[in-house]
Amino acid sequence: MQSSTKNIQSLRGMKDIVNEESVLFTYFIENASKIAKKYGFSYIETPLLEETALFKRSVGESSDIVNKEMYQFIDKGENDVCLRPEGTAGVVRHFVEKKLDRAGGTYKWYYYGPMFRYERPQKGRLREFHQFGCEVFGIDSVYEDANIIMLIKEILDFFGIGFTLKLNSLGCKECMPSYKENLVKHISTFVNELCEDCNRRILTNPIRVLDCKNEKCQSLLINAPKITNNLCNSCNSDFEKLKEILDFNNISYEIDSNLVRGLDYYNKTAFEFVSNEIGSQSAIAGGGRYDRLVEFLGGKSTAGIGFAIGIERLLELVKIKEFKEDFVYIGALDENCLNEAFKIAINKRKNTKTHIEYNPRSFGKHFGIAQKLNCNIVALIGENELKNSTIFIKNLDTKEEKNIALEEFLVEE
Ligand code: HAM
Repeated sequence: MQSSTKNIQSLRGMKDIVNEESVLFTYFIENASKIAKKYGFSYIETPLLEETALFKRSVGESSDIVNKEMYQFIDKGENDVCLRPEGTAGVVRHFVEKKLDRAGGTYKWYYYGPMFRYERPQKGRLREFHQFGCEVFGIDSVYEDANIIMLIKEILDFFGIGFTLKLNSLGCKECMPSYKENLVKHISTFVNELCEDCNRRILTNPIRVLDCKNEKCQSLLINAPKITNNLCNSCNSDFEKLKEILDFNNISYEIDSNLVRGLDYYNKTAFEFVSNEIGSQSAIAGGGRYDRLVEFLGGKSTAGIGFAIGIERLLELVKIKEFKEDFVYIGALDENCLNEAFKIAINKRKNTKTHIEYNPRSFGKHFGIAQKLNCNIVALIGENELKNSTIFIKNLDTKEEKNIALEEFLVEE
């Protein structure tokens, strides 16, 4: 076989996470995980590859994800499989597979990892992207809806990200069907003027026409009946209660009765956190209730609620400089200071990211290597420093130089 000499590049809509972005990425995972754990979540990791039927039955046949965006193929054992386009379905599959629906009780999991959707790539829209998500089973109280919203807010606040919270209620199996009927009746007079996607959605899940991005469709739908005016008593009082809890906790929100989300499994509460600073792909996080999803996947009816944050979109909003961690370069100016430099470095790296340089060099040479390594602090030991138990420090960002006591250098911050 002849090998091609053409350079191989990453696939369209997929990218490496490296350098400053990877520092920020791991910093995000670490801190979002800490916050989720405080709320009682424990970590779950599900496979990247699942049976295609899982997503057809959960995310739904009417969704763009299942219709157009799946990385689906037949594997060598003739199984119809696909790379997960989202994280909820796998967690619910686990819940049902382990018969936790029969066991009863409450389960709370968080996860993070890559998701795959064959979308048209643009700013903020990738084919491989990463989500941080949480899923809750067995709690039907609307206080949990508020709790989940607070958890996302806490993560976004931690990273100093401004947002608008959009909120809606999609109703339940009692009130949603009659709303869908009203909507279809309303649409029937101008159905031919709606886009091709909307015409498909009318047949599969009519409420999805409400959040069509096509401007013409939006203008035609301006007088469409509002979902929030058609809720049954129980959904209405839950929605009122949720708003009351959010008001009581000073969490601002906007009601958006056209917010139906791009996945078919939601009922009652649906929400999105959006930012106006990242262009047209403005949703940083989204989620809601999915009280019927366990049933759709063959389990016993169990309440569920969750969300996922799009990590790449979130990181666009975080100022990289603010989260830059120290990277300390430690070196010796003379051969006979090497042992001491090595020992100091071993101590320093207990708490700080540290590079140990094994060859003695001049100040200038050390600075040059440190810069190439992206270190921001250079710490050097020479004869004088060794004698006085001090260390020479240069901050490569501010250019400040000073000699400080070794003890001070090694003190934990
Ligand atoms: P989703 O709204 O499809 O929900 O995705 C959640 C977030 O993932 C979005 O708000 C966005 O930030 C990010 N995202 C989605 N697609 C892309 C893309 N192509 N490129 C970059 N970022 C993207 C879900 O996936 C649900 N599973 C959330 C959920 C969990 N609902 C209940 N539990």
